[in-house]
Amino acid sequence: MDWRINSMEDYNQKYEKALNNPDAYWGDIAKSFDWFKEWNSVRSGSIQDADMRWFDGAQLNITVNCLDRHLKTQPNKEALLYIPNDPSEEATRLTYKELHAEVCKTANMFKSLGVKKGDRVCLYMSMVPELLISVLACARLGAIHSVVFGGFSAQALAGRIEDASCTLVVTNDGGLRGNKTIELKKITDDALAMKECACVKNVIVHKRAGNEVSMKEGRDHWWHDLMKDMDTQCDPEVMEAEDTLFVLYTSGSTGKPKGIQHTTAGYMVWAAYTFANVFQVNKDDLYWCTADIGWITGHTYITYGPLLNGATTVMFEGVPTWPDAGRFWDIVDQYKITHFYTAPTAIRALMGCGNEFVDKYKLDSLKVLGSVGEPINEEAWHWYDEHVGKKKCPIVDTWWQTETGGILISPLAGITKLKPCHATLPLPGVHPVLMNEKGEEIMEREAEGNLCIRNPWPGMVRTIYGDHERFKNTYLSAYPGMYFTGDGCKRDAEGFYRITGRVDDVINVSGHRIGTAEVEDAIDQHPEVIEAAVVGFPHDIKGQGIYAYIIISANAGDNIQKEVLDTVTKFIGPIAKPDKIQVVKGLPKTRSGKIMRRILRKIAAHEFENFGDTSTLLDPSVVDEIKEGVL
Ligand code: WT7
Repeated sequence: MDWRINSMEDYNQKYEKALNNPDAYWGDIAKSFDWFKEWNSVRSGSIQDADMRWFDGAQLNITVNCLDRHLKTQPNKEALLYIPNDPSEEATRLTYKELHAEVCKTANMFKSLGVKKGDRVCLYMSMVPELLISVLACARLGAIHSVVFGGFSAQALAGRIEDASCTLVVTNDGGLRGNKTIELKKITDDALAMKECACVKNVIVHKRAGNEVSMKEGRDHWWHDLMKDMDTQCDPEVMEAEDTLFVLYTSGSTGKPKGIQHTTAGYMVWAAYTFANVFQVNKDDLYWCTADIGWITGHTYITYGPLLNGATTVMFEGVPTWPDAGRFWDIVDQYKITHFYTAPTAIRALMGCGNEFVDKYKLDSLKVLGSVGEPINEEAWHWYDEHVGKKKCPIVDTWWQTETGGILISPLAGITKLKPCHATLPLPGVHPVLMNEKGEEIMEREAEGNLCIRNPWPGMVRTIYGDHERFKNTYLSAYPGMYFTGDGCKRDAEGFYRITGRVDDVINVSGHRIGTAEVEDAIDQHPEVIEAAVVGFPHDIKGQGIYAYIIISANAGDNIQKEVLDTVTKFIGPIAKPDKIQVVKGLPKTRSGKIMRRILRKIAAHEFENFGDTSTLLDPSVVDEIKEGVL
């Protein structure tokens, strides 16, 4: 890995080279991977034409690079350290050799049910090793994995299964999280009973919680039954560089969730490159990312990134606050974690539980801390630095998105100067641009604007599954020739970047992206709700909370708030439940019928002045009424 950056001088040189001669830069890096056939061109296509391609003409299988390659050099190194929910249950360890065998067996199991290259497989599972194994088994066969986070409802699952026409669903009987069991098979059954899921032919159920489930003859199969006869060898499918590796659904400002589509070669190079450079994990280190594999962080920085680098990846089944708020720190001490990567919302929640839970642990194995998913506030940054890192560990504040495949702006651990709350500098190959409202690039160094990326990078989203037009409209049209991130951003005198948050109608709740339109659509499903408007508001722990204003019919009962929560849980899942629901008589609308969300956001934040221009409001009196009733 001679592409590992080792100093600021080295960073500057590599940044320049990647900017001025990207073909040479990325071509050299790509040579350190295993390919069945080399590429014809490093980069081709363009943002203008929405057909960005990397390593065109090459053939490969990403699992060869995650697994087979390491069998030659380190077959007995631990690939996966799995820590179960219950602290008294023993951890599971799988060496590279063992993980390779499990992935092959699982791929053979999928194959035995008819899964082949290009088929879509939905993984609706809890954090068990079999989830990571299933992800890789799909990649082994060239099947496209679509992981759906276990917190989504049957309806949300059904929508995602339908959108990608998945033929196989893999789930658990139940998922263990703290003292709760999530009934994943039951939810899967409910989803599959809907007309959307007619495409599903088979369900594999991995037994974890031991709760009772019903198995449908001919459709449902137990994982352990099928696995018994499977061979530990499975030839990797030959994939073209731009063949789809996976789809992962995420929310946008409008409409239903988008299936973000990533391809094989570019994503592989980006996952490996960013993992190595941002975290600077060395041979004997132990890296732990606390995300769920149901989100992009778990795809790139629990699964692909660490394994491509031959590192040991730690996977944790449970939650940070069970049995108590010291669980993370207990794990760090017990297993001697060196690299710890989590979300600001977890840090804020644990900070609120009291310092006694963290201060009683040594935490002296830690070398690097990471943050991801939302802006980290100053207080949380310093608490993380002092109480967890003991002021000895760099904090890498990593900015990226489902669409970017991997980290784009972040300090490199131990190399980049840190500045609290700043994602700092772009990785080589990333060219951030700040744009003003007029659509012009802001040339001054110190500036604030909408964050765009000028050039395609290897890990960039290629399309939205089944809807290339929507892809172009969402990301590539606002600022022609550039990728628009949806984030606002500041740049300081040193050129350091600070992400300020979404500039569209997307709310970031506990690091989870939630589209206001989706929540509104869910609330509207309640028969007594006439209209709903949803905005984000500042929330001490979640970063942003969800505030819903609803207009209800005369028939609505006293329990309407509770019923609305249930409706949202049913149509999306508990993660999208509003924190506050205010019943209003009217919404501030313009004469053309557009809701002025700017005003609703201000009221929800308890900012009652400077509403800006309200002269276009149809009925200004609704604003006073809403202000008076604010929660
Ligand atoms: C949105 C992407 C990146 C993986 C997890 C979330 C926000 C992400 C940071 C950060 C400030 C951040 C942005 C972005 N975000 N990381 N370090 N500082 N904001 O992925 O669900 O696709 O959400 O999360 O607003 O657009 P995602």
